[in-house]
Amino acid sequence: MHLKLNISILILSLLLLQTGTDDFRSRVIFKKQKVTKWALRSYQKHFNGKCLELEIKEVTVYAFSIENFKRSPEEVDTLMTLAREKFAKVMEEKDKLMEKGVKLQVIGNIKLLPEDLQKSIADAVILTKNNEKSVLNVAFAYTSRDEITNSIKTIAEGINEQDLEADDLNHSLIDQCLYTRQCRDVDLLVRTSGEMRFSDFLLWQTQSTVFYFTEALWPEFTLWHLLAAIFYYQRCYIRTKILKSYFQEKTPTISDNKRVVNFLSKVDKQRYQELVEIQKSRVV
Ligand SMILES: *[C@@H]1O[C@H](CO)[C@@H](O)[C@H](O)[C@H]1NC(C)=O
Repeated sequence: MHLKLNISILILSLLLLQTGTDDFRSRVIFKKQKVTKWALRSYQKHFNGKCLELEIKEVTVYAFSIENFKRSPEEVDTLMTLAREKFAKVMEEKDKLMEKGVKLQVIGNIKLLPEDLQKSIADAVILTKNNEKSVLNVAFAYTSRDEITNSIKTIAEGINEQDLEADDLNHSLIDQCLYTRQCRDVDLLVRTSGEMRFSDFLLWQTQSTVFYFTEALWPEFTLWHLLAAIFYYQRCYIRTKILKSYFQEKTPTISDNKRVVNFLSKVDKQRYQELVEIQKSRVV
């Protein structure tokens, strides 16, 4: 199969499911430990092996929404601890990641996170930045509204510093200043748990995306669910292709504007520099 897909999986919140504190709790009562194990198992199954075998090039998962900070401090603490363990594990297994050529990107406002976690994220992202076989995007401290706001702020600064002119602002430029700047278009978005909400996830990026809704809860999501989603995508393929070409006509690339191109490469450098600084900073 040569799919070269970018699949985004909208799990209510990966971390919440792993602590068993989200809707999963209300629908099936499981022991906390068990939920964690299940969630982890499906996660590893798809992302460590199967996606690569299926040539799914990019997967994005929604781990933690900015809205989740509104939960009780204890709950947020638990979630952060879980995230720490996750990233520690990623670094422990970094050889595997490098060998498989997985590029890990975190999309979101990581400045909102505890410093030590920011640092682990920076470590993992910098380490894997040149990997090319596949991409795992983790949406962390993310909401679409925050992302779009941040993009517009970046552009406003550009105009302020006279790197850009006000006329340069159009939707291609907003698009290029999102956290997902380096990501492929989202081909397929899978929403688990029978929910029909989008929960502020990739709202800007999904204009020509196929949505697939499944009743399956994330911990019980298996390869078969993934394949069902892909078959559904294939059934919609022709229509999607027409839609895509329509949108591509509408969003030409920016490459013909030197000023904007220079600005974008400056933004890339700044964003990378921020990560390097986080990595170097000493956590007290
Ligand atoms: C936005 O402006 C750039 C030039 O700065 C241009 O290349 C691009 O086609 C424009 N995009 C849209 C959607 O008009």
